[in-house]
Amino acid sequence: MLRRLHPEQPDSFAFTPANLAWAQAQVTKFPEGRQASAVIPLLWRAQEQEGWLTRPAIETIADMLGMAYIRVLEVASFYFMFQLQPVGSVAHIQICGTTSCMICGAEDLIAVCKEKIADKPHTLSADGKFSWEEVECLGSCTNAPMAQIGKDYYEDLTAKRFGELLDELAAGKVPVPGPQNGRYASEPLKGLSSLTDYDSGKTRYNASVQLATDIGDTVKRIDGTEVPLLTPWIGKDGTVASRAGKVSPPPAPAAPKPAVKQTPEAKFKPETATKEVGEEKPLTLSAAREGGADDLKLLKGVGPKLEVLLNELGFHHFDQVAAWTPAQVAWVDARLKFKGRIERDGWVEQARQLAAGEETEFAKRAKKDGFYDE
Ligand code: FES
Repeated sequence: MLRRLHPEQPDSFAFTPANLAWAQAQVTKFPEGRQASAVIPLLWRAQEQEGWLTRPAIETIADMLGMAYIRVLEVASFYFMFQLQPVGSVAHIQICGTTSCMICGAEDLIAVCKEKIADKPHTLSADGKFSWEEVECLGSCTNAPMAQIGKDYYEDLTAKRFGELLDELAAGKVPVPGPQNGRYASEPLKGLSSLTDYDSGKTRYNASVQLATDIGDTVKRIDGTEVPLLTPWIGKDGTVASRAGKVSPPPAPAAPKPAVKQTPEAKFKPETATKEVGEEKPLTLSAAREGGADDLKLLKGVGPKLEVLLNELGFHHFDQVAAWTPAQVAWVDARLKFKGRIERDGWVEQARQLAAGEETEFAKRAKKDGFYDE
């Protein structure tokens, strides 16, 4: 397959502030003069943000890493994981067409893609919501046939169930990933025939599905606020630890121009994120109290960008968050980009512990990894 730049390109590209901070931090992993080593993670993050790799994104990353444009294009066009054409605004569907899946019905799934999305792979559906492609084995052969949708695996599919999944996604829902035929994981369909002790203590979902459900980012674009920025290799004195001793990190690359293009994510809001709860504005502060603000990044789910937003909304201290009632949580939630995160990550309970001077598991880990300023 010929892989080349798409004929239609946006005018510009810019990482979101959180993704830019993440990208700059990746560059500091490598010794001075070897910044080009960060090219694949940066290209991947650009794709996670935009859905596909545009020419402006490739050029922006080349500028950040001091590389010739052609060198970055070579990388982007070599690896099939990089999408060089627009993908569906809701999801890009990857159907495994390798042996196990093929024997178990991958061709039926491809027929559904052709019927519901587009006759040819790498082509947008009429409404722009979906695209699809056939890929090589995704390592889930015991649950064949399967498809990767966004970040997650949907396994043990039939053409009927796969068609329903596409309809649910089109309606703004994010179906639970994992086996779609009632299996827990990859055990026999009739249940465990050995090691049956493990049947007790089963959780609702297997670990992988539980994690996917907890994180909830299956088909969303990544703006960088989802996970804390971890740079444990940078010491508190700003030096980078290496086997040869401590060295100063390379200078941070220049920030690219601000974004002018709306990300596809903005157009897609999962239905599961909305809640029927009345809103009430909590007490806010125009500035932190004397003694300074608390580090809200110690709350699991609050990254640097979200902390700034919370400060702008008037929240600077753990005791403020700890005092939120459900209606006040709804008020704050309505002002966040990705809904449901306050409840999902248990901010209020975490804040209660931190306000009382206790440690949460997450805060302990965050302090140990040293990714924030104490
Ligand atoms: S053959 Fe499809 S996941 Fe391995």
